[in-house]
Parts: sequence; C-alpha cells; structure tokens
Amino acid sequence: SYLGLDLGTSGLRALLVDDQGAPIGSTERDYPLSHPHPGWSEQAPTDWIAALDSAVEELRATHPQFSALRGIGVAGQMHGATLLDADDSVLRPCILWNDSRSHAEATVLDQAPNVRRLSGNIVFPGFTAPKLEWVRTHEPEIYDRIAKVLLPAGYLNLYLTGEHVSDMSDSAGTSWLDVGERTWSGELLTTGHMRLDQMPRLVEGTEAAGTLRPELAKRWGVSACVVVAGGAGDNAAAACGIGAMNEGQGFVSLGTSGVLLAARDGYAPAPETALHTFCHAVPGRWYQMGVMLSATDSLNWFSRITGSKPADLTAELGPTIQAPSGVKFQPYLSGERTPHNDANVRGNFAGLGAATSRRDMTRAILEGVAFGLRDSFEALRSTNAHFDELIAIGGGTRSIYWLSVIATSLDIPIRVPSSGEFGAALGAARLGMIAAESAEVTQVMTPPRLAEPIMPVQNLRHAYDDAYSKFRAAYAWQKEAPY
Ligand code: XUL
Repeated sequence: SYLGLDLGTSGLRALLVDDQGAPIGSTERDYPLSHPHPGWSEQAPTDWIAALDSAVEELRATHPQFSALRGIGVAGQMHGATLLDADDSVLRPCILWNDSRSHAEATVLDQAPNVRRLSGNIVFPGFTAPKLEWVRTHEPEIYDRIAKVLLPAGYLNLYLTGEHVSDMSDSAGTSWLDVGERTWSGELLTTGHMRLDQMPRLVEGTEAAGTLRPELAKRWGVSACVVVAGGAGDNAAAACGIGAMNEGQGFVSLGTSGVLLAARDGYAPAPETALHTFCHAVPGRWYQMGVMLSATDSLNWFSRITGSKPADLTAELGPTIQAPSGVKFQPYLSGERTPHNDANVRGNFAGLGAATSRRDMTRAILEGVAFGLRDSFEALRSTNAHFDELIAIGGGTRSIYWLSVIATSLDIPIRVPSSGEFGAALGAARLGMIAAESAEVTQVMTPPRLAEPIMPVQNLRHAYDDAYSKFRAAYAWQKEAPY
C-alpha cells in the first residue's frame, strides 16, 4: 500500500491506497491557525507532527493493509517558512502562505534586478523569500541561528526521513529557485540574503527523497525500506490527483483560496500577468495558475456574519442560475494575487437597497468569486493556455449554482469528479507509488471518473460578460477607495 499526506492549512488528511492506487481509507486531523497580529498567520510545526502521528495510528488500527506500506508522498500548503537551527529545532512558528506581514519586503525583492526573470514570478508577500527578509529585520537573533529553511511538506519529510529535502514544485514558490532550470539560484539567494547551505536538497516530486526512519518504521509496524517521495506543493499534487499533466488539462479549485491551474508542456513565465509559473511535480513539466486569496473564504466570512452555514446559504439559491445580481461583491478580503498583486485592496459590497436580502448577498458573493476566477482565466488565455474542459475540485463544488455561474462566466463546461478521491492526498499517494516502484507517470496520473458536465447557460452569457466588465472596472475604484 501507499500513503498520501496532504498537509493543509486547516488540517492534515492521510489517505491509504492499495497496490493499484485505489483508495482504501482516509482520516483527517485539524490543527489551529494563529493570527497574533492583523495580517499574520502562523502554525506550530509540532502540531503537524502530532496530526500525522495520530492519523497514522488510526489508519494502522483500522486497515491491515497499512502494514504492507511501500511508499509515502507528502503534499503541502505552499510557501510557509519553517526555520530550523543546527540541531533541527524549530526556531519560531511557521509563517504561512496567507500571512501578509512581509508585503514591503516583497515589493523590494520584486523590484531587484533579475528576480522575476530567474524565479519566473512576481515576489508575492505570501512567498517564502520576503518572509525571511522580514525575519532578518525584525527578529535578527532568530535569523542569525537559521541553519535550514524548510517548506511545510519539507518539514514532514524531515520527520519521516531525517533528511532535508524539497521537491521542485514546492520550491518554485520560494523566489529562490531558478524555475526554468529547476535548481537553487545563487543570484536569487544572494538577493534574498540567504545561503545555499540553508536550502534543502532538491529532488523531483516523483523521485525517492529518502527512506522512512527506522524508529518510525518500527513504531508503525512497517518494513524498514518504505520509500518517501519528493512530494509536492498542494496544487501540483492536486493536478497529479486528477491527472492534469498536459497542455489542455487543468482544474478550478474552490478552496479557502481559489485556483485556476493549467498544465503546461514548457516553461513560459509571464510574471506581468500575476500568474504563477511553477515546476510540476513530475520532471520536465511546469504549470501556470491564477490564485485568488478568498474563494470559499468569502462565503465562510458571510457565514460567520449571518450565523448560517455556507451550505444553507447556497441552498437558498436553488440549482438554476439567474442573471447577475444587482448587488455586487468584490472578494478581496485578504487582498488579491492574480491579477492585481495587491496586498492592501479590500472587499466591498455595492448596490445594496432596502429590499436586499441575504439571498441577494450570497448570490453576489458567488458571482464576485466567479469574476475573480475569470480574471485568472483571461490571464491564462493571454499566455495561450487553453482548456479542453475544466475539472472543479474543493469544498465550493458542492454548490451547483456556483459551478453554473463559473461555467457561464468563463464560457466553458465544468466537470466534477463523480465520486471517490481525487485531491492532493491522492496526488501525494501517487507520487509515493511512483517513487517506490519506478512506475510510469502516464500509467499512474490518470483522470478520475467525471459526472456530466455543467454547461454555460448560453442565454445569460452576455449578461455575465457585461457584469464581468463592470467587476473589472470596479477594482480601479476600490483601489483608490478613501478608507
Ligand atoms: C499557492 C498558494 C495556496 C496554498 C494553499 O500559491 O498559496 O494555494 O498552496 O495551501
């Protein structure tokens, strides 16, 4: 069997698959997120390890196949800075991808010569390099003791193997990697005031990063030669889970953040679009994606305000979409990455009237997020990415209304996996399987079974196009808003 671990922002998901890669069982453990100051977002790496230990205990106890474990893969929330001293002790809480404290440092790095050219990306405040610049300025006594910087998945790999390793897809989000060459860039490290010896060893996601530590193998009751794969950043792993490897394949993910991802055959960065261009988790491939910071997070925010569950809010709309709402919502609760690269912009409701209902506001939120995704879609189109079809994943896909609004706004059929496992944990398990068995990528990274497509509603296309143009124009206004 093989184990896929998805080290997410709100919790860890562990998935056990059989020798053919079919899911046997899974479990989840939550851990807290702390926001000690506005814009800060941190987690204790010890919580990740506790979640892993406890999840494995459960899988061991409930699935006899666990004892025949052969490979493990880890998918991680990207960009987080886990700082270790020379004894591998954690120096401070991990600064996560959705932490925006280092926006000033990001701007400085982004303007430094060659940074966009070598890293292929804007230096976003959520990326790793500006976090280290922040630590250098604000916590110099910690900065001076940093022996290694690991991403969250890398920290789990260290616990599993005893080695400092990182895969290409996750490393691409640091602003220290030469993303085209798939190697640490001496120039980027120097610009970011880091040293090569502070970086983990680079491996491809499908390569063996190491073997399970003997102590863990004993405790888990598994063989002494379980292989741990390089693993992946969570979006690359999700692409592996749905088999998005080639040009024309991609997904829209409606999670906390919203992602529109296109697999690319070659490396053609376009930082000016605010798209992310990262290495894929398999050798010789890349992907591009637009990231919006508050997708289901926008609905979850409204759910907290109204005291109604997100599913109840969307259920009020029924399944059949209407013309765009007169109420407008801009989903910039935490600023925005694609296409604006604006950490300071904030959300907005407009067009409220005395008759506006909760239902109208929910609709406006779903539409605002769909228009944010259309921004990423247009950016991807400008780089000649195309989609044969778009697979939708993530918690937000439970709303048919939302999927239909997205299909109509993007004018593309959307398909949802019909059942079973298909997310980052499955992608991670597949990486573990390939690393352990030297299996063929094309044999393993296959698409899931899909439900019937959700089609764009043609007679509403024009109205949605029109509303999207207004959404685009409203950003400029919101950016200048005097509050
Ligand atoms: C990607 C990003 C998020 C996190 C979520 O650039 O920041 O999608 O990976 O875990």
